[in-house]
Amino acid sequence: MKDIITINECSALRFIPENQYAGWQKKAIEALKLLESGQGKGSDFLGWIGLPSGTPQELIDQIKNICNDWQKDVELVVVIGIGGSYLGAKAVIEALSHSFSFWLSAAGPQIVFAGQNISEDYLAELDDLMKTRSIACIVISKSGTTTEPAIAFRLIKQHILGRYGKEETKRRIVAITDKSRGALRHMADRQEYRSFVIPDNVGGRFSVLTPVGLLPIALAGIDIEDLIAGALNMEHVTAEKKADNPAVKYAALRNALYSKGKKIELLVNFHPKLHYVTEWWKQLFGESEGKEHKGIFPAGVDFTTDLHSMGQYIQDGERHLFETVISVASANRSLTIPEDLEDADGLNYLAGKHIDECNKMAELGTCLAHVDGGVPNLRIEIPSLNAYNLGALLYFFQKACGISGYILGVNPFDQEGVEAYKKYMFALLNRPGFGTRGEPDANHR
Ligand code: PA5
Repeated sequence: MKDIITINECSALRFIPENQYAGWQKKAIEALKLLESGQGKGSDFLGWIGLPSGTPQELIDQIKNICNDWQKDVELVVVIGIGGSYLGAKAVIEALSHSFSFWLSAAGPQIVFAGQNISEDYLAELDDLMKTRSIACIVISKSGTTTEPAIAFRLIKQHILGRYGKEETKRRIVAITDKSRGALRHMADRQEYRSFVIPDNVGGRFSVLTPVGLLPIALAGIDIEDLIAGALNMEHVTAEKKADNPAVKYAALRNALYSKGKKIELLVNFHPKLHYVTEWWKQLFGESEGKEHKGIFPAGVDFTTDLHSMGQYIQDGERHLFETVISVASANRSLTIPEDLEDADGLNYLAGKHIDECNKMAELGTCLAHVDGGVPNLRIEIPSLNAYNLGALLYFFQKACGISGYILGVNPFDQEGVEAYKKYMFALLNRPGFGTRGEPDANHR
């Protein structure tokens, strides 16, 4: 069987002293063993490791029932959530949908997101859109108390209730939350919304293969069984305690580069559809590793677009970067550059070539130039963009993240730092129990 994910490290190894790399590989294998033993930091949150092999058919069937139900008369599904309760679904839907699906007549409902910001304009404009469509809503929050989705849900719930009445509202709202705790669980039970449980042992940013990701992804018409099957393949591949396990390799390489002062990792794609995979990855690695004043800063660029904005810095700015390219072997569509009799633009030398061939040469040329400029380059190669390969890619990143966090010595599964801004925000909004202080201490500004 051909590997779905291959790590090409050729253009990174030259930045790592030969006698040191084996040591990083050894550390990565030890970190994998610790992760799989369930004895490491944060081991209450390792439920994601076995999700692909443990997804019950009953869950898939429940998800399909909601898809069939809403298929009849729902034109727009508003998915409410933030961070790990939003980015996984957004990443998969963007990667696998037609780039212009919103403007084309689609078979199923359109998906839009809310609760991932507190913008008055965004929510008011969403209300404009909702008024023109038959709508339903999925509200996702593990804690059930996060402010951003709670504000959006209050507005959207009232819109649905006012428009459809109490009984029909039960059919048009689905809650995904903790099994027993939090305001959302209590609301769902009291109002009799259909609901799904986020397992206790799966944190937000590792939850794309729970109903958090699976329900919105299925509603977008994507085959979630293929997505899970790809992840399952990686569940097996990344369990191998050996240096050519791709998750071990990636974790070893990025930590080796970090130890050489490469403190920023740029996740690079050459396909605009992958923009939100990068956003999901940024959260996964940033929230998992940025602790105890340590951790690679995860950033992202969309090439070739950003070569015309960030290219100068990457080529010639401070040398604290390395690049990890998600390299997609084949395009899904076929389009060649036409011949032009006048050749006024001088492009006839490309006539007959596939657009993807030009993109590939841009990818290779960028790698050569950036490596010349002192930027190490890793490549994560996948065959094409489909549900199976994407499921594999997401699972691979999760596993590599757990290994990498353990190499760094942090707890990759908590996120206490996320709470800090909330305390100030609540105090400033005069939330009961959060003090009356109007602004942070001078020392903390
Ligand atoms: O990964 C995480 O734990 C976070 O990003 C959460 O998913 C995010 O803060 C949203 O939390 P909740 O699902 O409780 O609303």
